[in-house]
Amino acid sequence: MILAIETSCDDSSAAIVSQAGEVISSTVSSQHEIHREFQGIVPELASRRHCELINIILKETVRTAKIDWAELTAVAVTRGPGLIGSLLVGMTAAKAISLRFSLPLIPVNHIEAHAYSAELEHPVNYPYISLVASGGHTMIFLIESADSYQVLGQTRDDAAGEAYDKVARMLKLGYPGGPVIEQAAQQGNPRSIPLPRPTLTGERRWNWRMDNYDFSFSGLKTAVYYHLKNNPRTNPADLAAAFQQAANDCLVYKTITAAEKHNIPRITIGGGVTANRNLQESFGRQCAQRSIELYIPSNRYCTDNAAMIGHRARNLPPVTDYRMNAEANLKLTPSS
Ligand code: KG4
Ligand code: ZN
Repeated sequence: MILAIETSCDDSSAAIVSQAGEVISSTVSSQHEIHREFQGIVPELASRRHCELINIILKETVRTAKIDWAELTAVAVTRGPGLIGSLLVGMTAAKAISLRFSLPLIPVNHIEAHAYSAELEHPVNYPYISLVASGGHTMIFLIESADSYQVLGQTRDDAAGEAYDKVARMLKLGYPGGPVIEQAAQQGNPRSIPLPRPTLTGERRWNWRMDNYDFSFSGLKTAVYYHLKNNPRTNPADLAAAFQQAANDCLVYKTITAAEKHNIPRITIGGGVTANRNLQESFGRQCAQRSIELYIPSNRYCTDNAAMIGHRARNLPPVTDYRMNAEANLKLTPSS
């Protein structure tokens, strides 16, 4: 039984995951109410809230698992990347529990956990192509096995979720941006406003070309800004729909092309942005047409959660030196 802790950003979360990978209990406490009035995450407020919640969440997670602390076999914790003040709360709690109960302490990279997160609910054969699209990262992985992967591409500027959040702020739709854009877009027409698909070239949809698997979302965000500036009476729902379609087209097209070019008929997606229904449906259609298997986590495992940290920790070594600490810019360790 692995106790996992995730406090990298604005969600305080703990979970108990069995060695076989089953989620026994999972608790996530979102801080959206605290950060909403600022329309973005205030790091100092986030870490203070993690401090208030961490013991409550840990006790609740062990209680709902109906196990005793003595039955735990390891403690897993997000080491990074993320907000340093937030990460330190989870790391300190994990170290304390590890020392108190003499349990191995397993640090986990948050992005890596998102990349493997579809395996939480579905057995997925290797190799597969994994898209991670979250508030801080947008990456395409080639997952070769439980302990080796390659990074095929990543964003050169804003992450997809960051673009969603910034566009929502421009449109005064609220926070967090992804869900409110998705909701507004339901009343809008995505074809009413032409927006660029940065890093894709060519005129016809699904006939694009691309040079690599990298993304760029800052130009798309700027295009929304200028459209709004030049057309102040534009319908926000139309602009939300056009933005959502443009951002999602880039994510879907590049991931599908990665699978086709590498001859890998299996795709998983993960990270907060992949909770987007339009994105999931678009992946569903394109994968079905190409006989590509598609694995989408439930919404609660798309966004930040400790269950994915515990799941990933099953294949990682524990630390031997407790001077290891949280790292805001923790790098990935791909196989090549
Ligand atoms: O993975 P996540 O929970 O946290 C990070 O690791 O960053 O992702 C949060 C991001 C935010 O930018 C949020 O706006 C976006 O995911 N998001 C969505 C949706 N739900 C959350 N973006 C698009 N559509 C959604 N339904
Ligand atoms: Zn995340």
